[in-house]
Amino acid sequence: MARKKIIAGNWKMNTTLKDGVKLAKDVKKKAKLGKNVSVIFGVPATHLHAVKMGIGRSTKLSVAAQNFNANDGGAFTGEISANMLKGISVNHVILGHSERREIFGEDDKMIAAKVSQAINNKITPIFCCGEPLKIRKSKKYVSFVAAQLRKGLFHLSAKDFSKVIIAYEPIWAIGTGMTASPEQAQEIHKKMRGMITKKYNAKIANNTSILYGGSVKPANAKELFSQPDVDGGLVGGASLKAKDFLAIIHAM
Ligand code: PGA
Repeated sequence: MARKKIIAGNWKMNTTLKDGVKLAKDVKKKAKLGKNVSVIFGVPATHLHAVKMGIGRSTKLSVAAQNFNANDGGAFTGEISANMLKGISVNHVILGHSERREIFGEDDKMIAAKVSQAINNKITPIFCCGEPLKIRKSKKYVSFVAAQLRKGLFHLSAKDFSKVIIAYEPIWAIGTGMTASPEQAQEIHKKMRGMITKKYNAKIANNTSILYGGSVKPANAKELFSQPDVDGGLVGGASLKAKDFLAIIHAM
């Protein structure tokens, strides 16, 4: 079976509840999704339940948290747990986003623990990785991203790894308007698939969805998605307007 094509929106800390629910409903109403294509809304914690209810039962539309805590529960003021997500039928979580890594100091070890916690709770992790501009310029980006994969994901068994979605998001392209060229995205996606083949096997590598993120827009989506190893996108800014997000979905 062909691997899944996925368009995920990352709303970050944007939208009110009312606007967020409307946005998800507008997308649901107009999205024409091919057989193998699905859409995930990565929404603020306060919106998870309402957006989930708003889109209703669907095999093609899902809601993702943007973060959670690796502990089961207890004295962790301000945090949310896997169990809380399960309780409202949220089955995806974005982990290791560069903003979590850079602003909130999440390191590889913490992210690896969250990945395990997600898998143990039957929540699909959308694992983000990607290099800063300095590393891109130094040409060491392949080994940088390889280390992120190794430290954040490669502790998983083959069976568990096959449940993961990966998003490659070069930090220099996030929210900057500067997009990786289709060739740049393809190059590293292919290398990542090669790493997965080496660590696990070709079948698992071929079935892993690897999304590209970083200033995906209606104008560049089609070209990016046409690359053989780019299986969709993780979209920030452009996921906040139904029209733009729909255009990106329909570019898949
Ligand atoms: P952007 O964000 O599309 O606004 O660049 C992508 C992301 O951070 O996931």
